[in-house]
Amino acid sequence: MREERLCLALDFGSRREILGFARRFGGNVGWLKVGLEAFVAEGPSIVAEVAETGARVFLDLKLHDIPTTVGRAVAAASRSGAAMVNVHAFGGREMLVAAREAADAARVQLVAVTLLTSLDARSLADLPVAGHPEGIARRLAVLAKECGLDGVVCAARDVVAVKSACGSGFLAVVPGIRPSAADSFDQKRIASPAAALREGADVLVVGRPVTAAPDPDAALESLLAEIQSVS
Ligand code: C5P
Repeated sequence: MREERLCLALDFGSRREILGFARRFGGNVGWLKVGLEAFVAEGPSIVAEVAETGARVFLDLKLHDIPTTVGRAVAAASRSGAAMVNVHAFGGREMLVAAREAADAARVQLVAVTLLTSLDARSLADLPVAGHPEGIARRLAVLAKECGLDGVVCAARDVVAVKSACGSGFLAVVPGIRPSAADSFDQKRIASPAAALREGADVLVVGRPVTAAPDPDAALESLLAEIQSVS
């Protein structure tokens, strides 16, 4: 059975690895994510090839530029066969509106990255950004909602604030997922799959806990069991 709440991140730099994992697991998950590494290495044609596995493709390019450039890039990304694309909410209102207009025309879902899950309060101290991660994520989510986006990418701990500010129908796509025994790698604001779902996450984005596991099939199976334990 396909688990619609799971998005597997195909963070590889070669067609062989990207398509190998896509074909191996595409029937089990609702979404496969093509990110910067895969897209830059293999180009837009990789999106259509991944989509052939049957899972929808989330093209995670985290676009962030002036409104016209981002609008045109969203239109181009949509032509690659992606079902969902994303931009950085930090690009601001006009950029978000330009992205949304392009996404509407192409009929793809559009979500905005609030604050990367690799940034915690300590990393924010280096940046000219005031406030706590959760407060920043909430404000950016409200901005994305005002601009008509379908949802946000945020940390599990931001979901309750995002949903209470933007409504339960506003999508929360949550990376930084770590089954309890897994390595956190470079992620800081992390949560277990069950905890993220209990917070209200709609889609969990998981990469290395499966793709870098010694036994990826077993890792996916235990992840699916944990997700399915939360109705
Ligand atoms: O391997 P891991 O499970 O950490 O992968 C998480 C994926 O989610 C990566 O592809 C990363 O680019 C992406 N992502 C993230 N944080 C965000 C947005 C996307 O980790 N805020």
